[in-house]
Amino acid sequence: MKSNRWDDAYARRARDEKWLARSVYKLQEIDSRFKLMRRGSRVLDLGCYPGSWCQYALGKVGPGGDVVGIDLKRPTHLTSHRFRFIQADVMALEIQWLVREISLRDLVMSDLAPPTSGIRAADESRSLALAERAAEIGGALLKNGGQFLCKIFEGGDLNPFKAEVSSRFRQVRLFRPKATRKRSREVYLIGEEFRD
Ligand SMILES: C[S@@+](CC[C@H](N)C(=O)[O-])C[C@H]1O[C@@H](n2cnc3c(N)ncnc32)[C@H](O)[C@@H]1O
Repeated sequence: MKSNRWDDAYARRARDEKWLARSVYKLQEIDSRFKLMRRGSRVLDLGCYPGSWCQYALGKVGPGGDVVGIDLKRPTHLTSHRFRFIQADVMALEIQWLVREISLRDLVMSDLAPPTSGIRAADESRSLALAERAAEIGGALLKNGGQFLCKIFEGGDLNPFKAEVSSRFRQVRLFRPKATRKRSREVYLIGEEFRD
């Protein structure tokens, strides 16, 4: 098969190892460094399609935990009874409905990404809006002491966003995993120990 520019070593490895997307290697690296989840954890995954982060989380949390995923698109290869999918636009989702519908979470993670336009300022501001929404959902759904992980594009508003999130967590850090594509401007924000 002819390879294209997206068909890099991580993508090939993901196919060989039966992961649903190469992005799993970013979560794997972040989790091994920041210890985001453990057996029994309850996880919420925002922007979960095609499902590699959920796949990873289901393996990590084991039979005592569960994973809820939200996306515009339904992942078709996740069948575990410990996985619940909610098809929704996170920007329109009623947060109080979600609070009634699922239990509080040990980890809220977001790999939400807007379709990129190539116009830098527009892409940054759409990414920021999704990250702010993820933080708002995390604020409503996280247990005291819970963890938060969120993708955001680097840009002018990253530092104010980090400062805003910092007031709710013991510590907030930024991290760029090795599997991030060289030309990508994405970075991950990790909030440790949510203060309710
Ligand atoms: C990079 S992909 C996530 C990949 C996923 N972490 C995995 O490992 O399979 C980003 C996802 O965000 C979703 N998304 C973007 N905007 C959204 C919105 N407003 N509401 C819900 N999902 C959204 C897209 O549909 C897309 O599936």
